[in-house]
Amino acid sequence: MVVFEDVTKIYDDETVAVDGLNLTVERGEFMVFIGPSGCGKTTTLQMINRLKEPTSGRILVNGEDTRDMKAVDLRRNMGYVIQEIALFPHMTVGQNISVVPDLLGWSQEEKLERARELLALVDLDPDVYMDRYPRELSGGQQQRIGVLRALAVDPDVLLMDEPFGGLDPLTRDQLHDELKILQDKVQKTIIFVTHDMDEALKLADRVTLMRDGKLVQVDSPEEILRNPNDEFVADFIGSERRLISPLDVLVREVMLEDIPKLGSDASLDDALSLMQEKKTDYIAVADGDDFKGMLSAHRLQELRLDTGPESSIGDAELITVTVDSRETMMTAVHRLAETEEHVLAVMNRKGKLVGAISRGWLPDILAKELWPKEAAGFETEES
Ligand SMILES: Nc1ncnc2c1ncn2[C@@H]1O[C@H](COP(=O)(O)OP(=O)(O)O)[C@@H](O)[C@H]1O
Ligand SMILES: [Mg+2]
Repeated sequence: MVVFEDVTKIYDDETVAVDGLNLTVERGEFMVFIGPSGCGKTTTLQMINRLKEPTSGRILVNGEDTRDMKAVDLRRNMGYVIQEIALFPHMTVGQNISVVPDLLGWSQEEKLERARELLALVDLDPDVYMDRYPRELSGGQQQRIGVLRALAVDPDVLLMDEPFGGLDPLTRDQLHDELKILQDKVQKTIIFVTHDMDEALKLADRVTLMRDGKLVQVDSPEEILRNPNDEFVADFIGSERRLISPLDVLVREVMLEDIPKLGSDASLDDALSLMQEKKTDYIAVADGDDFKGMLSAHRLQELRLDTGPESSIGDAELITVTVDSRETMMTAVHRLAETEEHVLAVMNRKGKLVGAISRGWLPDILAKELWPKEAAGFETEES
């Protein structure tokens, strides 16, 4: 549990970054801080692990005043993930995950076992990934390792400051899904900062909306959407989010465009480089206008292990589920639900690839609104 009591932060005797903050984040809660740039989100987060000290007020973590703890001990019990995670390039995935366990003097077996356990938690096969170097991973995979590294010594609290900000939308969507699944498994108190409302609504148990260092509204995503406190909140949500049912929208209006592409004769290394450059976990494989399918970072890594980095991406098992760009999202959601894939390639009338739809927010959140009774184990309050 993290409690803010009258916390104020003033920089240089003049900038009031955080202004009289009172808030309790419950144990196991996923709390998202959101607000415009400069409203004090990062300062708030960094006061929790004492990268910044409050000017006045106090912060309690599990009942203890953070000022009474050694900063080193405090940070050890707190994972911290930022956009520029900076994995150590000369260390393998296993070694990167084990940085803190290493500092704490864990044995080789303990470190290895923990790293395997964590990789398995996010469906990264330890046999495939443990000895890889960061340069051998896609952008999304690198960010996943950053999250695992933060969880290595099983901290109570995870602090995340726009951790997926640099990733392309498709990959970000998938990491959101995975983070929610991960959270179900590990039940950490997560404090997550973003300026992206879609991200906040998707991830949060509760959302804290900030403006000029003050709290404007603290509520569940549903409550914020239904009853915004004032004009500022309503504006921040954006009227389109409240009015249109996303399932009636045409695929081409919401699809992700500019999917990175390679010809089927490209090598696995070419594909990996492109995934790193574009910070994505998916690329399209197409020879001219002849679409072959989508290649995921996951399948790329498996194939790399089997056949070596020089082999061609045309040999990989590709994702070939498609939807017509003129269909509605209703169709897209059904198609994703029928298959196990995370992405759907969007084709135009002439059968040319024009975009992609990911599993992300639509099926998981909005499908429940549509088929509340049928979704297994899901109950609604209405009717
Ligand atoms: N180290 C600093 N020194 C002086 N002013 C700062 C410092 N860090 C942040 N600020 C100011 O404090 C306010 C809040 O910043 P920040 O917490 O980074 O906001 P956010 O993360 O919401 O964008 C801004 O006005 C910013 O310019
Ligand atoms: Mg910030």
